[in-house]
Amino acid sequence: MRETQALIERVRRVSADVLQIDLTVEPALMHLEPGQSLFVRPVDQADWQPYLREQWIPVDVTPGRVVVEGAPTRFYAPGDALSVLSPVGRAIPLRPKLLHLLLIAEDALPTPFMHLARKVIGGGVEVTLVLRGEARRYPLELLPPEIEVLHGEADWRWPEQVEMFTWADQVLVLAPSYAYMEVYGPIYATIAQLRQHNVPDDFVSGLFYYPMACGVGVCGACLVPARQRITACTDGPAIDLKQVRFP
Ligand code: FES
Repeated sequence: MRETQALIERVRRVSADVLQIDLTVEPALMHLEPGQSLFVRPVDQADWQPYLREQWIPVDVTPGRVVVEGAPTRFYAPGDALSVLSPVGRAIPLRPKLLHLLLIAEDALPTPFMHLARKVIGGGVEVTLVLRGEARRYPLELLPPEIEVLHGEADWRWPEQVEMFTWADQVLVLAPSYAYMEVYGPIYATIAQLRQHNVPDDFVSGLFYYPMACGVGVCGACLVPARQRITACTDGPAIDLKQVRFP
């Protein structure tokens, strides 16, 4: 992880829930892989010098420019300079011979899937995104048109659920941090049952985003409940649900 500077070029309020910020970045940031994020704080702002950095999630990376997306928590303006530590986390591992990717967002905006979706679609992978609960508020116009979008029913029995788990070569699930165990646990249990408890490595992963302090695996603020020591900031955000210790 190294520190660079970025400049806010443009700020777009896409909806009540979603803000997009275009950043001019140094060349080192062009190598961000899907899953990796930025650890950011403003510089040269006399009125606001936060002690902790914020984790910003890229949705698109092009030469010299990174677009990040999140819930609007504070007013940022074009011209603001940022100190950026990156990359945070590791690239989301992809299974060999990936043809069908299933993404599930429950009560969380599917922002962390967007960089990955763009990349794998370019490689010919079919992507299906299931939106449930608050995730349905995500503006569909932000999604690449190639993504198939389904809306999950209230009891998780969206049409073709079992068929989807069978059809997919890999599954990624996203929930808000307060609901990781209650969302990821049943999905893992269903898949384990369908596969007769022989789930391949990285077949189903949950994305973990905890408030971070150090960002380098030292402080333990983002520990994932698991059989060995796993921190979301260095081993995540995608953690193989086989490794997670569910209550
Ligand atoms: S933020 Fe310190 S270990 Fe992850």
